[in-house]
Amino acid sequence: MTGPVLIFDSGVGGLSVAAALRRHAPGIGLGYVCDNAWLPYGLRPDASLTRRIVAVCQAAVAAFRPAVLVVACNTASTLALEPLRRTLAIPVVGTVPAIKPAAALSRTRHLGLLATTATLRRPYTQRLIERFAAGCRVTGIAADALVHEAEARLGGADPDAARLDAALAPLWQATKEEPALDTVVLGCTHFPLLTPSLAALAPVPLTWVDSGEAIARRVGQLLGPESSRCRAGDQTFATAPGPLLTRALAAYGMPPPLPLMPAADAAAAP
Ligand code: DGL
Repeated sequence: MTGPVLIFDSGVGGLSVAAALRRHAPGIGLGYVCDNAWLPYGLRPDASLTRRIVAVCQAAVAAFRPAVLVVACNTASTLALEPLRRTLAIPVVGTVPAIKPAAALSRTRHLGLLATTATLRRPYTQRLIERFAAGCRVTGIAADALVHEAEARLGGADPDAARLDAALAPLWQATKEEPALDTVVLGCTHFPLLTPSLAALAPVPLTWVDSGEAIARRVGQLLGPESSRCRAGDQTFATAPGPLLTRALAAYGMPPPLPLMPAADAAAAP
């Protein structure tokens, strides 16, 4: 199988996964689709969000015709992988919190899980914790405010350190407990875009674990060795194109987005 690969997220978070894919397969054609008219996903009710994710991915796959779809969004993957796989005729690779590698890396066996409100409460996430971190303490922190900060950063603004610090206060507190938290799962693809700021604010050095490299390896397995020689054109799509998004995509070498759905449908529940 050869590319191209389509990456889907609610906003710019999937660019952290796009960067990992580019490192693994520099020649691969990438499509990027974001449903920024519905951002943030992490505060939306499950039923309408599932319908929305399937509708946006169907429209983007029809427009770009990729070999593989990467759902570069934990909030979408922990909810809608099954209906996506049922609906689409191509392989769908999901992104879920990297609990297993984090549990292997932690020396104290106390992990932090930074994710959206929705990802934290999903049964899928609870099952990951039970299966892969049974012997660990897991401190979950709903950090929806960081999604906004990551969007603003890629639009050209500096992250608001006071806002980040306030959102992460429970994480810093857990580094003072016994056993002390030493490893943090970045369970939202927006958060790796902020790692330098997060590391600078942390009161002690922490290990930050995201899913980008694992996703890139999985896509590489699906596409095989030919994939890095298949240079196809990149294309981007958005449900609410605009100058800040164009700037964020350009920082990752991607072209300005095409509008994906008719304007009247872009912000409405399908
Ligand atoms: N980037 C998405 C994730 O990985 C979520 C951002 C949002 O709340 O829209 O969970």
